[in-house]
Amino acid sequence: MSKLMDSIKEKAKVLGKRIVLAEGEEERIIRAAEMATKEGVAKIVLIGDEAVIKAKCPDVCLDGVEVINPKTYKKTAEYANLLYELRKAKGMTEEKAAALAQDCLFFGVLMIKSGDADGLVAGAVHSTGDVLRPALQIIKTKPGISTVSSCFLMSMPEDGPGAKYGENGVLVFGDCAVNPNPDSDQLAAIAIASAETAEKLAGIQPKVAMLSFSTKGSAKHELVDKVAIATEKVKELAPELAVDGELQADAALVASVGKLKAPTSTVAGEANVLIFPDLQAGNIGYKLVQRLAGAEAIGPICQGFANPVNDLSRGCSAEDVVCVVATTAVLG
Ligand code: ACO
Repeated sequence: MSKLMDSIKEKAKVLGKRIVLAEGEEERIIRAAEMATKEGVAKIVLIGDEAVIKAKCPDVCLDGVEVINPKTYKKTAEYANLLYELRKAKGMTEEKAAALAQDCLFFGVLMIKSGDADGLVAGAVHSTGDVLRPALQIIKTKPGISTVSSCFLMSMPEDGPGAKYGENGVLVFGDCAVNPNPDSDQLAAIAIASAETAEKLAGIQPKVAMLSFSTKGSAKHELVDKVAIATEKVKELAPELAVDGELQADAALVASVGKLKAPTSTVAGEANVLIFPDLQAGNIGYKLVQRLAGAEAIGPICQGFANPVNDLSRGCSAEDVVCVVATTAVLG
């Protein structure tokens, strides 16, 4: 595991956050609950039927883990009522709310909304959309933030060519997992949230590059305009933030190219937070760097929710889940 992940775990340990693992009957999640509890990265709430959990992993010790079965829990009816009240204007009925409150993902976000937990991790079984939708509907965004988005912490191998970029080889890429086609307002929100995540999780003093295929007007296109407008919005909304755009990736990262293409920029050549213009670019970009440069990709880290919710890869291991639990705890 990277030094970066170690430092996130150390931060999580002192916070004592209560994190829900919604897919509590899945083997990797059960094992992760034991590991996270032993490591002390969070207090774990496992959603599921205790008999099923024990039958699945008889060797696992769940001392210190709270197991909650939505079907028998004393507050499930209260959560169903909360769901009904929050969503009745959107067509929610009492019957539907009663059924949904027993679904592990809705139950988990309703626990958080009720103040009974601090954050949620799921996605070992469910798709990204299925994990995020209940949170988008119920937890909603932080005050002042209109868009939930995501980023990856990209940690370059210490002995590779990437180590000289970003903050000692650590960069933040956003948005690589949530918003398929952000408009300029959403792009600005992604940039501000990614800068905050960079500071909070990696201790990075953010220098944000709004990426494009153009640097400072070198190409004319409506796609370039979107990035340039978003850059101006970031400057208005977060005047203290070091941000520049639109920049090509080489101008953002490489000092000599930055100097040549954007000589007056304080970000060009030194960027450590890269904002991609849409999800196709962001998702492809992080996977290329992960596979071709051998970078560790920590994420997707969701940002902008009023309380932290994070999505797992369906191919995740129990160790990966523990890392996402720690990340979620630190974001809370
Ligand atoms: N920020 C804030 N609120 C949002 C956002 C957002 N980004 N997206 C949707 N919402 C709100 C809507 O306004 C709506 O609110 P309301 O019901 O109170 O009016 C609610 O969330 C639900 O909206 P829907 O339209 O039902 O949700 P949608 O179908 O748009 O799904 C989702 C949102 C799941 C994030 C979708 O955009 C999505 O699937 N994104 C891509 C995810 C993905 O597949 N990523 C790639 C894989 S991940 C990887 O490779 C690491």
